[in-house]
Amino acid sequence: MKIVVTGGTGFIGSHTVVELQEAGYEVVIVDNLVNSTIESLDGIEKITGIRPAFEKLDLTDKERTFDFFKSYQGIEAIIHFAALKAVGESVFKPLEYYSNNLNSLMNVLAAMKEFKVDSLVFSSSCTVYGQADTLPVTEKTPRKKAESPYGNTKAICEDILADYSRAEQQLKLIALRYFNPIGAHPTAHIGELPNGVPNNLIPYLTQTVAGIRSQLSVYGNDYNTPDGTAIRDYIDVVDLAKAHVVAIRRLIENKNKQNLEIFNIGTGGGVSVLQLVNTFEKATGKKVNHQIVGRRAGDIEKVWADTTLANKELGWKAEVSLEETLRNAWRWQEKLQK
Ligand code: NAD
Ligand code: UD1
Repeated sequence: MKIVVTGGTGFIGSHTVVELQEAGYEVVIVDNLVNSTIESLDGIEKITGIRPAFEKLDLTDKERTFDFFKSYQGIEAIIHFAALKAVGESVFKPLEYYSNNLNSLMNVLAAMKEFKVDSLVFSSSCTVYGQADTLPVTEKTPRKKAESPYGNTKAICEDILADYSRAEQQLKLIALRYFNPIGAHPTAHIGELPNGVPNNLIPYLTQTVAGIRSQLSVYGNDYNTPDGTAIRDYIDVVDLAKAHVVAIRRLIENKNKQNLEIFNIGTGGGVSVLQLVNTFEKATGKKVNHQIVGRRAGDIEKVWADTTLANKELGWKAEVSLEETLRNAWRWQEKLQK
């Protein structure tokens, strides 16, 4: 069964391709390599023994996207990861973010209609909840206005899926709202490749331990949380990848209950920044040079997922411990140094 994975050389995409291939699916990756490298294919091949088909393609180019779908017959489903994802950058380049993230989704949806592919899994984000009034957040928790153009592209993409699913009843769509994906494959053959100075906590932390950065800034210890630092739900990237495999299976086997379904994908628990730093130190035996600084603009205080729906409907739950995830992230960082 052939699955198209857009953004498949990226962080979450590459881990998902591994899990799909290990589950017996044939994968075709589409990526323009704007935020990833072709070496991901080597890593995927080392882990699975299979080098997935690859097409270098910018999905905002509608004609070339249609040509791609025309040339690959027998596509069963699509997982659409391709997007620009840097929150801070999106504030300075909003048009690039709207243009890339919305047009690529719309072109994929148009191609699905033209070439009769009905199933799609979409990468959404817990960013759509903003600072929720009650925790943990369920899929019914009201969305809040996005804090950044990037976050807004995710909210708009969800709206596009909702409108299109009403207009095209044959479609089977699943949007997965990821919480904070971290870690790397335990083999260290694939992992996260941040561009320039990382914004996200884990790549900044591992680069600090590796000596590339001098110190990790912990943004704020005056939040209303037990140790004062902000709380997130950190989900292991391999667990997250596996959620895509069960989502794809649900669509292919027609087990979906509506033609657009939304699931939270997190661990169901919150961890503070300081707890995470301490867990990293315990898990790896490495010291993290860190200092408390002021809050980062746009950050929320706390969020974690209620994953009951994904547990019940997808039969999925997070399994990898935070310690193991952090060890894998460190192993990947060490490999990057070599
Ligand atoms: P990533 O940047 O590693 O992967 C995205 C891939 O999409 C990259 O390989 C990039 O080259 C490709 N791409 C971007 N625009 C494209 C286009 N127009 N045509 C073809 N390819 C294009 O990011 P990731 O962390 O793997 O994220 C994957 C998806 O998950 C994204 O949609 C992201 O917004 C979403 N998401 C990520 C996080 C996170 O923390 N990493 C959290 C929530 C949601
Ligand atoms: C951010 C985005 C989210 C996106 C995710 C992955 C916002 C509001 N949210 O989530 O939409 O899906 O990135 O790209 O921007 N921290 C430090 N020091 C650091 C870096 C981070 O203390 O150097 C803290 C942050 O304040 C936060 C936590 O670590 O409390 C996690 O931060 P980060 O990894 O950047 O993810 P989010 O901000 O949760």
